[in-house]
Amino acid sequence: MTLTRRTAFLGFGAAAAALAAPPLARAQAPRELKIGLITGPQHFWTQAMQGFATAIRTASNGRYTAAVFPAGQLGNESVMVQQMQAGSLDMGFLTLAEFSNRAPNFAAFFAPYLVRDVTAAGRLLKSTEGEAQLEQMTDQGVVGLGFGLGGMRHILSRTPVSSVADLRGKKFRITPFAPLRDFYNIVGIAPTPIPLPGLFDALANGQIDGADVDLELVWTLRLFQQAQHLVTTTHMMFPVVSVMSGRVFAGLPQPDRALIRRTMAAELDKLVARYAGAEGEWLNQIRGAGANVREVGRDFFGDVATAWEREWGPRAPSIARLRALAGA
Ligand code: BEZ
Repeated sequence: MTLTRRTAFLGFGAAAAALAAPPLARAQAPRELKIGLITGPQHFWTQAMQGFATAIRTASNGRYTAAVFPAGQLGNESVMVQQMQAGSLDMGFLTLAEFSNRAPNFAAFFAPYLVRDVTAAGRLLKSTEGEAQLEQMTDQGVVGLGFGLGGMRHILSRTPVSSVADLRGKKFRITPFAPLRDFYNIVGIAPTPIPLPGLFDALANGQIDGADVDLELVWTLRLFQQAQHLVTTTHMMFPVVSVMSGRVFAGLPQPDRALIRRTMAAELDKLVARYAGAEGEWLNQIRGAGANVREVGRDFFGDVATAWEREWGPRAPSIARLRALAGA
């Protein structure tokens, strides 16, 4: 047996008593929650998770900490979902792409022209229908803690766009998931799934003609330097969901589950408010940098939205309920 200086000083009998002391007498090591996501360190989503890490440490008096792994360090979203199902990853902050590929009803949030801005999107995500969708996450082995969002989606092109006809036959980068792919197929654009970190180079080397974007990507990744024509179509919202491994969640005491939910909800509210403030600012900055910005209404895409809904309405029954709530 190796004696520490303290136990050696106490003598052998006292040393044995000290070694036998119950573990509760020692401070409990914090439980570290690993959080994976695909966005880079400067992205609002990553900053929101860092905000959660700070908040949960404080709210739990140091019993919980969180380590954030951005930029797909733990793998792509599909891999992260598998890790959470296995219980080897605690949490993720993920687009709905992977979930809607597995369960089509999640596509409902991508119904074209469902909402007109991020504030309305934030309200819809917190509605009864949003809550119902969160509960559906458990079917996939994860627990939905809450929705956040990214910016509204627009079109960025290397060549001028005066009407939708200018887009036909072009290759556009999209986030690879079925509802978005179908939208672009209906427009007549060839959707090209390129991972986010490769987007700038793909525009620079002409691999693609344009991309489905939000203003945060255009500004922070400097995409306007390679594709100068921004058409603010505002055609879709882009939710993100905070999820926890079902296995990990089940192993936590009930008050801690509630604490984690509350703490995450506060960060998600801040994230939505942040986007509401930043969208206009990014647009001004992109304009100021010399990009050609064209604002268009929902008539820009003609009957594409109707055709999309004919296809997706039966597969995603939540669309009708979300439309009713969004209109109310
Ligand atoms: C995208 O694939 O376009 C995307 C992914 C995560 C955050 C924002 C955008």
